[in-house]
Amino acid sequence: MDMSALSDLQVVAIDGPAGSGKSTIGRALAERLGLEYLDTGAMYRAVAFSVIRAQADPDDTDRVRALARSMDLQMAGGRVLVDGVDATLEIRGPEVTRAVTAVAADPEVRAELCTRQRLWALERGGGVVEGRDIGSVVFPDAVLKVYLTASVEERARRRAQEMQDLDYDRVAQDLVRRDESDSSRAASPLVTADGAVEYDTTGVEVARVVEDLATMVAERM
Ligand code: CDP
Repeated sequence: MDMSALSDLQVVAIDGPAGSGKSTIGRALAERLGLEYLDTGAMYRAVAFSVIRAQADPDDTDRVRALARSMDLQMAGGRVLVDGVDATLEIRGPEVTRAVTAVAADPEVRAELCTRQRLWALERGGGVVEGRDIGSVVFPDAVLKVYLTASVEERARRRAQEMQDLDYDRVAQDLVRRDESDSSRAASPLVTADGAVEYDTTGVEVARVVEDLATMVAERM
């Protein structure tokens, strides 16, 4: 891959912990800017889905890496197809959410998905890309890097509302567990990237956040 081509892309990188509003805001911002949107968390979830579907052991790194490399992943129109199977709902379920942490901690799985994310942006000239390491590792030259935060209480409340039949305490526990492991893992931990704008969305309306970010993009382009 020609890495110098990456610095010419019009990428908006959005990172932050679980439930900080990345997906809602990323989608709305992409639409506002006329760019396409990439949810990289869905890609890590897709690898976890494929591991579960193959009944592989998530700790069998060779197997997990091979599955990540061979996975055919189609993401369009809000649907996620993994090797031709519609995984849209299942990738958000508790089983995948439990398995994704180990999968995302593997440096070779990350390298594979990082390559796919860069190719995605190269094919489009850029886009709004959301995840944990987008501004720090995948697109360090992004036009705008945003680190979204929100209080744990608000993040758990949002997530519990999004997914019916999830109770607040379990959601809160799961968020804290994933924040902890995403931030402390050796490979591309969740950090505030150099030059990233930190934005606390606690109590702020989505439309307000989107307008603020669109203004920042306009100032930088
Ligand atoms: O939507 P939510 O914040 O719950 O999580 P997600 O964005 O769907 O990501 C699921 C998991 O994938 C995270 O907990 C991370 O472990 C991992 N991930 C990552 O390591 N790097 C990314 N760029 C995106 C997600």
